[in-house]
Amino acid sequence: MQPVIIVTGASRGLGAAVAEWLGQAGAIVALMARNQEDLEQVARRVEARGGKALVYPLDLSNPEAGALAVQSVIERCGRLDALVNNAGTIHPIGKLAEVDPAHWHQAVQLNLVSPIRLMQAALPALRQSRGRIVNVSTGAASRPVPSWSAYCATKAGLLLLTATVAAEEPEVVCLSLRPGVVDTDMQGQIREHRHKMPTDLADYFHGLKEKGELEPPEVPAQVAAWLALEGHPELSGQLVDYQDPKLRQAAASRLGASLSQVPA
Ligand SMILES: NC(=O)c1ccc[n+]([C@@H]2O[C@H](COP(=O)([O-])OP(=O)(O)OC[C@H]3O[C@@H](n4cnc5c(N)ncnc54)[C@H](OP(=O)(O)O)[C@@H]3O)[C@@H](O)[C@H]2O)c1
Repeated sequence: MQPVIIVTGASRGLGAAVAEWLGQAGAIVALMARNQEDLEQVARRVEARGGKALVYPLDLSNPEAGALAVQSVIERCGRLDALVNNAGTIHPIGKLAEVDPAHWHQAVQLNLVSPIRLMQAALPALRQSRGRIVNVSTGAASRPVPSWSAYCATKAGLLLLTATVAAEEPEVVCLSLRPGVVDTDMQGQIREHRHKMPTDLADYFHGLKEKGELEPPEVPAQVAAWLALEGHPELSGQLVDYQDPKLRQAAASRLGASLSQVPA
C-alpha cells in the first residue's frame, strides 16, 4: 500500500525536497503551501519520480484552513501515514521592541498554531495507521538569537509541544528534526535583512553562503522523508539531528544515494 504523507511548505526549499524524496519512495504526497504554480511544479517532479501528488494551495497562517485540508486528504485517500510540519517563517527579523506586532502574530499562527491544528486534525488517522509526525525544528528553538524573537519563541514552543504529544500518544511517533543551516529562500531572507541583525550574526550567515557551507536541501530532506516513512517509536519525543550517522545511513539505504534525475 502506498503511504499517504502530508508535507507543509512543500512549494520550495526543504519541503519541496522532502516531497521529492517521498515521491522517489512511491508515496502519495499531499503538498501544502500558498503558491499554486510552485506546488504544481513540485507535484510534477514527485510524479516523475514515481509518487503521486495532491496539491493544496492554502495559507497556513489561517490554521483552520490547514485543518480542513488535512481532513480532505484523509477523506480522499482513506488513511494518513505521516504529517511533516515544515512550513515556517523567520519573520519578523528585528529587535522585539521594534517589530510590528501583526508580523509577530503571523509568525505565531504559521510556526506554532498551524502545526497544532494540523496535528489535532491528523491524530485520529495517525493513531489508526500507527503513523508519524515530523516537526521541523532549529537550533534557535533552544537558544536565544537576537533579532529572531518570534522565530525562537515559536520554535521553542513547537519543540516542547512535540515532546508532549509524543508522551500523550503512544501509538504515534512524534519527533522534532533539526535540519542544519540549509541553502533555501529563508537563508536569503536572513542575508537580506542583515541591517536588522547584530553584525556578528549577519556576518556569520553571509560567510556560510560565501564559503559554500550551506547544506543543500536534499541532504536534510532525505532524513526527514525517511523519518516520515519509517521513524522508529524509540525516536518519539526526541529532537533528532539530520547529521546523525545512523539516521543518514538508514535514510540512504531506504531511499538511495541521491535524488534521481528527472525532467525539470
Ligand atoms: N533554511 C534553514 O537554514 C533552516 C534551518 C533550520 C530550520 N529550518 C526550518 O525548515 C523549514 C523550511 O524552511 P526553508 O528553509 O525551506 O524555508 P523557505 O525556503 O522559506 O520555504 C518555506 C516554505 O513554507 C511555505 N510557507 C511560508 N509561509 C506560508 C504560509 N503562510 N502558508 C503556507 N505555506 C507557507 C513556503 O511556501 P509559499 O511561499 O508558497 O507559501 C515554502 O514552501 C522551516 O520550518 C524552517 O524554520 C530552516
